[in-house]
Amino acid sequence: METAEVQMVPRHGVIELAFGEPDLGLLPVDLVRRCADRALSSAGPLALAYGASPGAGSVRLTVRDHLASLEQREPDLDEVVVTAGISAGLDLLLTLLLEPDDVVFIEEPTYSLGLRVLRDHRARLQPVPMDHDGMAVDRLADLAHEVRAQGLRPRLVYTVPTFHNPTGLSLSLGRRRRLLEIAAEEELLVVEDDAYRELWFDRPSPPSLWSLDHAGVVVRLGSTSKTIAPGLRTGWLTAPAAVAARYADAGVLDSGGAMSHFSALVAGRFLAAEEYGTHVAGLRREYGRRRDVLVRALTEALPPGCGMVRPGGGFFVRVTLPQGLEASALLAPALTAGVSFVPGARGQVEGGDEALRLGFTYYEPPALAEGASRLGAAIRAALAAS
Ligand SMILES: Cc1ncc(COP(=O)(O)O)c(C=O)c1O
Repeated sequence: METAEVQMVPRHGVIELAFGEPDLGLLPVDLVRRCADRALSSAGPLALAYGASPGAGSVRLTVRDHLASLEQREPDLDEVVVTAGISAGLDLLLTLLLEPDDVVFIEEPTYSLGLRVLRDHRARLQPVPMDHDGMAVDRLADLAHEVRAQGLRPRLVYTVPTFHNPTGLSLSLGRRRRLLEIAAEEELLVVEDDAYRELWFDRPSPPSLWSLDHAGVVVRLGSTSKTIAPGLRTGWLTAPAAVAARYADAGVLDSGGAMSHFSALVAGRFLAAEEYGTHVAGLRREYGRRRDVLVRALTEALPPGCGMVRPGGGFFVRVTLPQGLEASALLAPALTAGVSFVPGARGQVEGGDEALRLGFTYYEPPALAEGASRLGAAIRAALAAS
């Protein structure tokens, strides 16, 4: 029986660039403790009761104000539901919305663990290719027609349009608008995974699909995992009121109340704390610096034939390998050399072995530089042997 306390434990001697989570040293233990105190002092036993199904009213108000401060659009209160994070939000949405012959469109590549959630629901997946401007949305329109011609129902689009995992790319503004038009025309619901909105490094994030949506076709999932702490298991959903109500009416919430009720009260206090702005600005600065260190080190360490795009935010850099090399085959020698990565195929329905994903948030700069150098050496050795 496993006895680990946490999901990710670095292996001895390995720089785990596969990890996609915050540096433990940047998790705000003291401020969370103070927020927990505040939540308990103010709500007393109500902090420990079953939470209201859409989330505690005070937290929904805080989330509404928080989102209004980030975007040009303020959600109505009945458009905001508190969730137990994006993963749980996606899972429950799929439970509620997906019928057996429904097709879910995803970016190729996509967030590998989001793909696992989709697969848990036995969703029929239809990949849509990406280029430097994000998902090729015109292709989505064609694919929706093809799906319909097969007697299936195009139902959902799961997308990470802002600092996409694993590519770091963002969907262009023109394509955001076009995606919303297509969704309205094709009666698709867009599930926007907005995990990285606040973690931009060079310029503020593009507007969310949700903030541009006038047709009521977007459910946006947000999270406190990357900005506060993943262990809080809290996040939010903004959606047309009918979808938000359907979500809050789920049997699992009726039975158990809001998921992560106590954590959400703590997270709400954190979002409302005057220290929040400085905290997130500090993360942006630090993660931006780490992005720079990793990209620079990769530029020096990787042999010709490798490719990468410098991400403007988020957690990841994706590296494409020289022709003939496969990420899945490279993993064992890379681990022997003391560095890990996520092979690209994990985030794809088909193919993807020409690429790998590296995270730059878990380690401090010297380890990132060393990890890049080990990876470069492993790729060169594989090339020499091929
Ligand atoms: C795109 C994306 N969505 C969702 C998650 C997980 O979100 P949460 O912790 O809120 O479940 C991650 C974490 O890596 C992610 O990269």
